[in-house]
Amino acid sequence: SPGAIRWRSPSNIALVKYWGKHGVQLPRNPSVSFTLDGAATDTTLSYKARELAGEGVEVELYLDGELNKGFTERTKLFLEKLLPVYPFLKQLSLKIKTSNSFPHSAGIASSASGMSALALCLVSLEEELFEPLKERSEFNKKASYLARLGSGSACRSVYGGAAVWGALTALEGSSDEFAVPVSESLHTVFQDYHDDILLISKSEKSVSSRAGHGLMEGNPYATARYAQATRRTDEMLSVLRQGNVERFGEILESEALTLHALMMSSHPPYILIRPNTLTVIEKIHQYRADTGLPLYFTLDAGPNLHLLYPHSIAAEVKKFIREQLLYFCEDKMYLADRVGKGPERLEVS
Ligand code: DP6
Repeated sequence: SPGAIRWRSPSNIALVKYWGKHGVQLPRNPSVSFTLDGAATDTTLSYKARELAGEGVEVELYLDGELNKGFTERTKLFLEKLLPVYPFLKQLSLKIKTSNSFPHSAGIASSASGMSALALCLVSLEEELFEPLKERSEFNKKASYLARLGSGSACRSVYGGAAVWGALTALEGSSDEFAVPVSESLHTVFQDYHDDILLISKSEKSVSSRAGHGLMEGNPYATARYAQATRRTDEMLSVLRQGNVERFGEILESEALTLHALMMSSHPPYILIRPNTLTVIEKIHQYRADTGLPLYFTLDAGPNLHLLYPHSIAAEVKKFIREQLLYFCEDKMYLADRVGKGPERLEVS
């Protein structure tokens, strides 16, 4: 009988970056992220029995109520990759309605929230058609595994607080195939950390993450980088436990600059930061020198800055953003976000 499942899943921001992959979307190094709260995708998966069995998966994807050809095609390919695990998808006719909480053209990646929301819907669908998985942790592991096949960083969005993706000797249960939660060991200062996203430029990025990851294969610094990221994920985990916001910020900023240095040193090279990105970075450094407050930034594979800081200094930082940074942002706006509690299953409306 037909039915529908709905999940809201957040985006995440990497503290130690995943950059470089091999095989079936397996990471070259471990990474750790904060799960966000406000930036999220709301996805409803409706299903009914398929009238005529055909080749591949039958699916339509609606973004903000409109049939989206590009996303339909990508989703179809993704679901067909899952057929070995989920052969029953061939017997269904699927309709996916999805929308993001953040503006379309904001230049923030929606693949982490989008793919994790879809993966959660799929595991719920499996439970509805067959039998419920025994434990919540099994459910999450499976959702994280499926999300990873859609987009690597998406596997970390399945958990609230913080998550690690990639096998780490010191972290029991960690794996290259799915992310694990590390929020249990999050110091209180990090539990409600802020992440304000400064939109320096909203234009399309000139390199896809996929192409970017591929370039690491020929990068002369790759081996050293993977070893560094492993050490840093380890250290970041102890920093997150201890609540050391200064060391947190040092690693955070070096990760952002290292990611962009890797892109600049690949062949062909990519320069994704903009002049205003650098101007804002200098202003943040000056602000820290002047005030001693623990305000630090990170970057993804684009020009926009994420500003991370503890709740205790939120009033001062927001004043600083308004008075000194917004001028350098496109549309003079930023998205205020926080560390969040993770995905939520919603009633189908
Ligand atoms: C710079 O997860 O978008 O944001 O696995 O090809 O979908 P694919 O790549 P993606 O890469 C994210 C890269 C990053 C760092 C990170 O989130 O860890």
